[in-house]
Amino acid sequence: MPRSPGGLETLDPTRQRQFSESGYLVLPGFLPEPLRARLVPEVDHWVDEGLRARSIAACAAPEAGGPPPVLELELAAHGELLTHPPLLRTLTQLMGPSFVFHHLHSDRHAPGIAGKPWHHDCEPNDRGDPALRMIHALHYLGGLDEKVGSLAILPGSHRRSADKTALAHLGTGEVPGETVIDRLPAGSTVLLDSALFHTRRPAPDGPGGPRYFIDASYCQTGARWRPVKPYWRHMLARARELGLSDSRWPELFAERHFTEYTGTV
Ligand SMILES: [Fe+2]
Repeated sequence: MPRSPGGLETLDPTRQRQFSESGYLVLPGFLPEPLRARLVPEVDHWVDEGLRARSIAACAAPEAGGPPPVLELELAAHGELLTHPPLLRTLTQLMGPSFVFHHLHSDRHAPGIAGKPWHHDCEPNDRGDPALRMIHALHYLGGLDEKVGSLAILPGSHRRSADKTALAHLGTGEVPGETVIDRLPAGSTVLLDSALFHTRRPAPDGPGGPRYFIDASYCQTGARWRPVKPYWRHMLARARELGLSDSRWPELFAERHFTEYTGTV
């Protein structure tokens, strides 16, 4: 991606149009090495100390009370990744300057983990407006290769309305027209229109290495979006308290862009 003298990453119109039409954009080696290197031990800490498990438990049983003891965005490098200026500037080019943070997930997939069947991850908004974009940033800290498996996507599938699991019956199998992303250098990012169907495929030759994977999602403002975590207000409040953003993206942690939590779908 070209950099202007001021350090502002720019997507040329061709790549912006490609994203609109195909629903994805691959950014090899997008993350600066110092940030990537700090993220890896944070992911290990998140997984090995049981923080990820407690985060999942807090979502699974919200009536048990309260948010988990630590949020992903409270880990310093994760907070920086969430608001990494080159990422936010790229998102601005794809959906305009007014968007809100939706959620952040961090994981270290164990070698041999099963694939994830075809699905999309777009949440509804209360205007039912398909023109409003939700974008997922998939960060592969260790890259992708034959040891950690691949990401397959179905270009253009974001442009037709479908349930998240409409293609789940296909498992992780090959679909006509798919594109496979199976080789990326460390610190690469793939931007997906959240309505794009995709599948995680396991390593072809059996268990290889762990997959360090962080995904963050963002929603264009203009309607209220459905949250996926019962403690979403706490999450936004902590982001504001930590000063993760600044005046360039004033809506990034604003509560007014969400409906009430009603459970996961
Ligand atoms: Fe997904």
